[in-house]
Amino acid sequence: MSIAVYPGTFDPLTNGHLDLILRASKLADELVIGVASNDEKKPLFSVEERIGLIETVLKENLADSSHIHVVGFTNLLIDFAKEQQASIVIRGLRAISDFEFEFQMMSTNHRLNPEIESVFLMASEQHHFISSSFVKEIAKLNGDVSSFVDNHVKQALIQKYS
Ligand code: COA
Repeated sequence: MSIAVYPGTFDPLTNGHLDLILRASKLADELVIGVASNDEKKPLFSVEERIGLIETVLKENLADSSHIHVVGFTNLLIDFAKEQQASIVIRGLRAISDFEFEFQMMSTNHRLNPEIESVFLMASEQHHFISSSFVKEIAKLNGDVSSFVDNHVKQALIQKYS
């Protein structure tokens, strides 16, 4: 059975992430969405809140999401992937500017554990410019984030900033 990990901070989940999750879920028998605590990014939502939002959005957007698991992690990505018995780590590329960071991360991870391969998916055309930071900034300044995030995420953002 093939298991893939799609890691990220998901603070919060955007439609770009969701698109990638739906596509990534077809590449492996099981997909583990790894929610990194990433405290140095000073996330707006706790790991538990981010996991809850992802689970809710998946339930609404997929008829059957039983092959997708959402798990928080605080350790090295490569160790987390091994714990999950994954052989693939999936990352999204939105623009050429993402490439350098992703290439460095992939090379480092490969040195740490050559048995785990990184697979990159190009973000879809309609989502390639979205980032969680922009979404948070728009919501904070009372802008409309409807076209960037699911309604549950939008409501959670409104609540956070109210
Ligand atoms: N659509 C829309 N936005 C996307 C996206 C997509 N498909 N893919 C990424 N993004 C955005 C995110 O919203 C995020 O935006 P932000 O920076 O404005 O918040 C940005 O791209 C990058 O976020 P993300 O994909 O979540 O990556 P990250 O850089 O926050 O975290 C980890 C990457 C979790 C994989 C990395 O920090 C990690 O591996 N941590 C564990 C510790 C470790 O192993 N370190 C050694 C690594 S070599």
